Formats: sequence, structure tokens, C-alpha cells
Amino acid sequence: MADAFAELLRGSDGEEVAVRYDAATETWMFVCVHSTVLGPAAGGTRMKVYPEPADALRDGLRLSAAMTSKNAIAGLPLGGGKAVLAVPEIPTGERRRALLLRYGELVEALGGTYVTACDMNTSERDMDVVAERTRHVMGRSVEAGGSGSSAPSTAVGVFHGIRAAVRHAIGADDLVGARVAVQGVGAVGGVLARLLAEAGAELVLADVVPERAEALARELGAEVVPPEEALATPCDVLAPCATGGVLNRETIPTLRCRIVAGAANNQLGEPEDADRLAERGIVYAPDYVVNAGGIIHLASLELLGEDEAVRDARLRAIGETLEACLRRAEAEGISPGQAAERMVAERLAAGRG
Ligand code: NAI
Repeated sequence: MADAFAELLRGSDGEEVAVRYDAATETWMFVCVHSTVLGPAAGGTRMKVYPEPADALRDGLRLSAAMTSKNAIAGLPLGGGKAVLAVPEIPTGERRRALLLRYGELVEALGGTYVTACDMNTSERDMDVVAERTRHVMGRSVEAGGSGSSAPSTAVGVFHGIRAAVRHAIGADDLVGARVAVQGVGAVGGVLARLLAEAGAELVLADVVPERAEALARELGAEVVPPEEALATPCDVLAPCATGGVLNRETIPTLRCRIVAGAANNQLGEPEDADRLAERGIVYAPDYVVNAGGIIHLASLELLGEDEAVRDARLRAIGETLEACLRRAEAEGISPGQAAERMVAERLAAGRG
């Protein structure tokens, strides 16, 4: 195990990792601080069962680097971080509460270098518990003084991204009649579908919980396709809002869309998939550019003390950032993902300067 940890840390360009083993729950806690160049490292706490502790550390390192990019390109005064609680099984009740309190102590011990929030398998209620031990937490419930769910803001940000991508790739100023396929109509995809319907888009919905897609489709007058057909649906825009890794060597040849812009994290199976999309003439909106609405919501309302009008302006700016990224990709003959990476590198260089 020590060798695996050493190898991962040697290969990481992050600033530091705080590690604690919680014997009572047999949980490894990893707080990965990738960058504090632009401000405190911010990113959620993922709770998950991993085959080995090193797999959890690998996930944390990768996700924390992605948060540096997401926060930088969103123009937030935040660095990137992520925490992983590698549990032997997802704890409940008193055991879960005790673990979260001890985790809160670890976050507090870092003195504000890292600011946490919800992620996979952690909720607003969990952040309320973490907040009993540390100030450095966002995403508490509204009742506990937090700003509540970030999903609606994530959807609004993706919506602005889709508008910008359609303007850039199709030359249309609105979404009237644009055909958009939403894969996954959960907390983000559901709100996104409503926004798109209001804007006059023609919708195709898919979810592995078919009743979810069907109920929403009835309400919005949308079409439903089985989940396995979502990616290959003929459409102007494909919006992946379910899971990561959906754009890969196998799926890209089957796509029948002009644009991919959605909320899911880590949509590309591997970096080369950006080139595969470009070769097919499909405009790809880098996921971390368009799905930053959630962290914008939390940081704006809870850390920066801004009001909803300022938050909304930050969400609208996602469209402008994506447009700048797509223009740059064209001008420099690179993929939108590479253009986004260059924009991030410039912001970090300016921060260091
Ligand atoms: P959610 O769990 O509420 O919704 C996901 C939906 O996708 C569910 O309805 C699920 O049944 C469906 N689904 C899962 N696999 C599917 C498949 N193969 N085909 C079709 N549908 C499928 O999650 P949420 O919060 O809406 O997040 C969606 C995505 O956006 C996730 O990848 C998440 O990491 C990402 N994201 C979410 C943010 C937020 O603020 N909630 C912020 C940034 C990214």
C-alpha cells in the first residue's frame, strides 16, 4: 500500500494531501489540495467503497486537479481540491454522523486551505454535520444557514452553455426548434429539460428510471427514448447529464448530434476522445466549463457573500467563457478541451504573478 501511495504522490502535481485513517469506521480519509494559487482549494467530499485505499487516493488526486480547472475557468477566487472518504460500506445513522464529525475535525485542522461541499454519496444534511466541527464547508441545508442544492444552478449554467454552443456552431440566437437530447433527467437534467422547453427546444429525454423520463416528457410535451438509445438519437445537441465516460471510442462513431454540452463530470473516456469528436465535426463543450454552475452557486452565496443577482451573472458568464473557448479552439486549430486548458493555464499563471 505504501508503495502505491508513494507512486501516486510522486506522479501528482498537486500541493498536498492530508491523510487520516479512522479506525472506528475503517475509513481512509484523503483531502487532496491540488492548488491554492487562486484561493482556498474548494471541492466536494466523495464517499465511496473502493477496492483499495490507493484507488481512493487516485480518484481524489484526479478530481482535485479537475476542480482547479473548473474553479479557474469559472473566474472564481478559488483553488482546486477534493476529499474522498473511502469507506468499507456506506455508513448510516450514528456511525455516519460520528465519521462526519471526525472528518470535519480534519477539515478544520487544515485551517481553511481546503473548503468542502457535497459530492457523490454526501448530502446537504451531511454538510450540516461536518459544519458542527469546521467553518470551511459549503452546501449546508437552507435550514442550517446554507444555500441548499446546487443542482438548479448547475442546470442554469449548462443551459447558458448550450445557448452559446448553438450560437457558435449553428448560428442561431435562440433555441426555438433546436432538438436537444437529455441523457439523465435527475436533479440537474430535470431542471435543464424544463429550461430548454421554456426556450422552445424540441426535447428527447432518457433515463434508466423510465418513469422519471416519461412523467417529465408528459409534462413538457417531449419524446422519450430508451436509455441505450440516448447517445445515438439524431439531435442538434446531446446533453449528457447522467454519468461520466459516455464519450468514448465505442460511442463517438454512433453519435448523431452537432454539439455535446451537458452536466456530467468527466464525459470523455480518455483525452483522445476530444480529437475523435473534432474529427467527426462535433462541437464539444468541455464538461468542466459548462457544469461549473454548482460550485459557482455555493461559492457566490456562501463564501463570497454575494446575492442571487450576482450569482446569476456568474452563471450567465459560463456562456461567454464557452464562446471564448470555442473561438480560441477554431483560431488556434485545437480542440475546445485544449483551448480550455490553455485558458486555465493563463489564469493560474496570472494568479502566480
Ligand atoms: P442525479 O443522480 O440526480 O441524476 C442522474 C440521473 O441520471 C438519474 O435520474 C439516473 O437515473 C440517470 N441515469 C443514470 N445512468 C443513466 C444512463 N446510463 N442513461 C440514462 N440515465 C441515466 O445526479 P445530478 O445531480 O443530476 O447530476 C448529474 C450529473 O451531473 C452527474 O454526472 C454529476 O456528477 C454531474 N454534476 C452535478 C452537479 C450538481 O450540482 N448536482 C454539479 C456538476 C456536475
